[in-house]
Amino acid sequence: MEREAGAGVSDPLFDLAGRVAVVTGGAGQLGRVFVEGLVARGMRVASFDVASGGAPEGASEYEVDITDRAAVESALAAVVGELGAPHLLVNNAGLDSPPDAPAVEVGPFEDVPEAAFDSVMDVNVKGALLCCQTVGAAMARAGRGSIVNISSVYGMLSPVQDLYEFRRARGETYVKPVAYSVSKGALLNLTRYLATYWAKDGVRVNTLTFAGVWNDQDGEFLEAFAARSPMGRMLDENEALGALVFLASDASSYVTGSNLVVDGGWSAW
Ligand SMILES: NC(=O)c1ccc[n+]([C@@H]2O[C@H](COP(=O)([O-])OP(=O)(O)OC[C@H]3O[C@@H](n4cnc5c(N)ncnc54)[C@H](O)[C@@H]3O)[C@@H](O)[C@H]2O)c1
Repeated sequence: MEREAGAGVSDPLFDLAGRVAVVTGGAGQLGRVFVEGLVARGMRVASFDVASGGAPEGASEYEVDITDRAAVESALAAVVGELGAPHLLVNNAGLDSPPDAPAVEVGPFEDVPEAAFDSVMDVNVKGALLCCQTVGAAMARAGRGSIVNISSVYGMLSPVQDLYEFRRARGETYVKPVAYSVSKGALLNLTRYLATYWAKDGVRVNTLTFAGVWNDQDGEFLEAFAARSPMGRMLDENEALGALVFLASDASSYVTGSNLVVDGGWSAW
């Protein structure tokens, strides 16, 4: 059949139609963009989130705490029954302290409470690990799949503490907490470990690293961020999708163990 002039060409390299995805944290800022974008490409998408009611239309929503292995296992069983065995796992759920985080979360390094460190590590690292052990293992049994671990430039590099100077200038304390950096750094090697572990089972595992995402932050923070960024701005949430589609699809069939960095040049200087 001939296409009409100007009609979009569907590219088999990037074709995701009919495949099944699990996106953790699908009710959050980036999670919604991922879920919506994958649904729009014909995927059957399940969101695993502790928050309910936030997943975009067209997705199946499961209220799951990813730090609870039994809860993840039972949600996976429901996904397999309802949608089929997953082809894609996006480990996107995470805890972070944004620039407007309450003072108790962002005190000096020396005083970081163990409980605060543990809760971030629990979700960002153990949660991703448990989803790999369950959803990833189901993909390995099926002999195909892609896992995308969402990390941050703060997992590759130290946070630039100067960006938060505006809080200190107001007499407040703000130190970007260490747990976020440590947890996001851990994902880089969880990726490499599993990429080699599952390479022959057809499951590819990659990290997708982002710089800060625009979310109507304080003007002084945005100014400081722009001054540090080669592109002079934060990531627009819609710019996060393209790299995910690449890593999810057959376009990246020989890409495993890698870290795709979407940071407007942040790590280039
Ligand atoms: N926003 C940024 O600037 C930025 C930059 C780089 C990387 N990232 C990463 O992108 C990912 C998404 O970030 P975001 O900004 O959309 O965050 P967000 O806070 O908007 O969304 C995170 C989601 O995870 C869910 N969640 C938290 N704990 C959970 C648990 N135990 N079980 C299940 N779900 C849980 C939350 O309910 C929320 O819906 C995170 O991994 C984050 O570290 C974000």
